[in-house]
Amino acid sequence: MGATAVIGAQWGDEGKGKVIDLLAEQADYVVRFSGGNNAGHTVINHLGEFRLHLVPAGIFNAQTTCVIGNGVAIDPDVLIGELDQLDAAGIDTSRLLISDRAHIVFPYHRLLDNLEEARLDAQAIGTTRRGIGPAFTDKTARRGLRMGDLLDPDSLRGKLAGAMEYTNLVLQGVYNHQPLSTDDVYEQCRRWAERLSGLICQTELLINRALQERREVLLEGAQGTLLDLDFGTYPYVTSSHPGASSAYQGAGIGPIRIDRIVGVFKVYCTRVGGGSFPTELHDANGEHIREVAHEYGVTTGRPRRIGWFDAPMARLSNLVNGYTSVILTRLDVLDQLESIKICTGYRLGTQTLEFPPSSAADLAQCIPIYEELPGWREPTSDFRHVQDLPANARAYIARLEELIQAQVSMLSIGPRRDENIIVRPAL
Ligand code: GDP
Ligand code: IMO
Ligand code: MG
Repeated sequence: MGATAVIGAQWGDEGKGKVIDLLAEQADYVVRFSGGNNAGHTVINHLGEFRLHLVPAGIFNAQTTCVIGNGVAIDPDVLIGELDQLDAAGIDTSRLLISDRAHIVFPYHRLLDNLEEARLDAQAIGTTRRGIGPAFTDKTARRGLRMGDLLDPDSLRGKLAGAMEYTNLVLQGVYNHQPLSTDDVYEQCRRWAERLSGLICQTELLINRALQERREVLLEGAQGTLLDLDFGTYPYVTSSHPGASSAYQGAGIGPIRIDRIVGVFKVYCTRVGGGSFPTELHDANGEHIREVAHEYGVTTGRPRRIGWFDAPMARLSNLVNGYTSVILTRLDVLDQLESIKICTGYRLGTQTLEFPPSSAADLAQCIPIYEELPGWREPTSDFRHVQDLPANARAYIARLEELIQAQVSMLSIGPRRDENIIVRPAL
C-alpha cells in the first residue's frame, strides 16, 4: 500500500492535527513534510490536550514512528521545548527521527522576520514572526545550514561563519542593526547537537524502506494550499509549498508512492495574517463563529479572520492537489446558525469567475456570489452516522461536496479524536 498525504486545503488551521492523530492509530509512520514552527496543530485525545508545532501529531500512538522530514525548517530550541513538554506529560518521544537534510531556523532568522515585518509596517505580511520565511530564503539561496551539519562540529563552524557574514551585512546595511556574534550561535549549535544528534539520520531511506515493506505511511501537511508560494494569495503566503507536491518532495519519496491525497477543509473559512479574504465576515455571524469555535491562532494567539465557505478557492485547492477524498471539519460550529451562505463564484467587473484570479489586485476587487442554505439548529457532536444528521446539515455537506468536486470521506463534529462520522473509506 502507498502513502496517504493529509493536506491543508484552505488557509491553514483546518484541523490537520486532529485528523493525523486519529489516522495515526492505523499508521506505522507519520512524516511532517513542510513548513516549520509557524504551524500549530492541536490534538485532543485520551492523553490530554496538546499544541504541536514541529513534532508530528502521530506521537501519541505507541506503535508509530514519527519523522520530521527534509522539507521542514526546524528551530531546534522550539523542538527541544516541545519534546520537554511531551516528556513531562508522560508521552514517549523516543520514536522521533529528524532528517539530516532539514534546514535549521536560527535566532537570526527570527530577528530578520521581525525586522522585515516592522519595516513593511502597513504592508506587512502578518507572518508568525518565527523566522520561517528567512530560513527558507537561506535554503533557496544555498547558504542555509542543515540538521546534519550539527553532527560535524568542525565544518559547522566554517559554514556558520559564512552564513553569518552575509546575515550581518544585511542586519547592518538594511536594518541598521548591530551584528551578531558567530561564537554565541556556535555555542547554541553545540547544545542543540548534544540533545538532538541521536535522532538525526537519512530519513528518506527509512520511509522508502517502510513503503517497500507495505507499511502504512501518513504524510502530515502544515499550513494550507491557499498559503502556497505559487497557488496561494501571493504575496500574502508562506515561504514554502503546503500542497501535495511537497508531500513527496519533503519526505523524499516518488510521487507515485502516494495513493491517497486527502484535503482537509473547514465547513467555513478562516485565515490569520494579511491578504485578501473575499468571503470575510465583519458581522455578528463572524463574531459568533469566532467565539463558539474559539478561532484564535495556536502559534501566535491572534484572532482568526472568519468567512463563509469559498468554492472558487476550494476548486483551485482541488485542482492543484488532486484530492482523492476530502475531510470536512468543524461542522458542529455552525449548529446554531439560522442560515449559512456559500460563495459559489466571484464577480470581477463584468466577468463571473469560477476560480480566484492570480493577481492580488484583481482578487481584492472580487465580489462573492452567494447562495444561502437553511441552518439545522441542532447539536451534531453526538451523531456517528451520516443518515442521523439533520436533513439541512446533510444538504449543506452534499452542496460542499458538489462544489469542491470531491467525495467526503469523514466529517469532524468536535475537537476530540473520537468526534467523527466516517462517511466512506478515504480513497
Ligand atoms: P491545524 O493547524 O490544521 O492542525 O488546526 P489547528 O489545531 O490550528 O486549529 C483547529 C482547531 O479546531 C483546534 O482548536 C482543534 O481542536 C479544533 N477542531 C478540529 N476539528 C474540530 C471539529 O470538528 N469541531 C470543533 N468544534 N473543533 C475542531
Ligand atoms: P497550520 O499548520 C494558519 C500564515 C501566517 C501568515 C502567512 C505567512 O497550523 O495550519 P509565515 O510565518 O509562514 O511566514 O507567515 O502564513 N501561516 C499560517 N496560518 N495556519 C498555519 O499553520 C500557518 N502558518 C503560517 O499567519 O499569514
Ligand atoms: Mg494550526
